Amino acid sequence: MCRAAGSPSVADVTHTRYWPLVDLRLTSADLMLRPMTEADLTTVADVLPDDFDLDPAAPRYAALDVRTNRGVTMHQAYWWCYGTWRPESWKLSFVALAGGQIVGWQQLKGEDFLRLRTVDSASFLVPAVRGRGYGKQMRTAVLALAFGPLEAQAAVTSAWHGNQASLGVSRSLGYQPNGVSFQPRGDGRDVMTYLRLSRADWLASGRSAGVRIEGFDACRPLFGLPVSGLPLSGSSSPAAEAGARVLPDGTKPDS
Ligand SMILES: CC(C)(COP(=O)(O)OP(=O)(O)OC[C@H]1O[C@@H](n2cnc3c(N)ncnc32)[C@H](O)[C@@H]1OP(=O)(O)O)[C@@H](O)C(=O)NCCC(=O)NCCS
Repeated sequence: MCRAAGSPSVADVTHTRYWPLVDLRLTSADLMLRPMTEADLTTVADVLPDDFDLDPAAPRYAALDVRTNRGVTMHQAYWWCYGTWRPESWKLSFVALAGGQIVGWQQLKGEDFLRLRTVDSASFLVPAVRGRGYGKQMRTAVLALAFGPLEAQAAVTSAWHGNQASLGVSRSLGYQPNGVSFQPRGDGRDVMTYLRLSRADWLASGRSAGVRIEGFDACRPLFGLPVSGLPLSGSSSPAAEAGARVLPDGTKPDS
């Protein structure tokens, strides 16, 4: 499709009143997280590490090599996530930047979120920057969003039993064991380990203090949350019923 002279390219789009997620920013000590845009797709596909599990049911294209197939899957997952976004069911994928370079990807997801108030997560870092605490910073950033303005009650996560770095991030941030199960893996099966972090434990940790959240207010309607503290008529969310506003640390203004 032709682009009219003077009209923005995808890479230029930093603000839109129709999709305010693109202006959301989470900043930690070393990282800045912003929701992925179309302009990030090639970079994210290029840096996608081999040890990050993708949906085994994703389409495979016989004429493409494994790496290219994985990159295609990331593209299709990106389009699916924004294209199917509903307040009750969403997957928000961030790119994590260090020194202006994309070094990782962090996803936060909510299923039946307004009822269950539970988030899940997934992430990867490029191998060169692992082991520096960036994995913990990325997870901390999205948990500050979840337990702060999104008013989550719990965060869950899962990893293969041998994925010590992923399990280490979770344990280090206060998640507690939440069971195991066999899951299909390749042609066989493996043990999936589940963990859960309660809102009370997160707030007691004080870790939200290390994260700055900007640009969330405009995103509230996309999550089914009331705008500017006003109840949404017909909404069943606790926040809507209380007309509550919550600060990034999970406290209420004036409390
Ligand atoms: C998961 C991932 C994002 C974590 O990033 P990271 O940079 O390795 O993690 P961090 O340095 O922030 O923290 C890792 C924590 O786990 C601990 N850890 C790491 N390896 C460990 C091991 N072999 N045994 C025990 N603990 C370990 C670290 O000590 C640290 O905890 P601490 O700060 O309490 O000491 C990264 O390893 C990655 O991209 N892995 C491949 C993709 C993946 O598996 N994603 C998760 C599933 S979606």
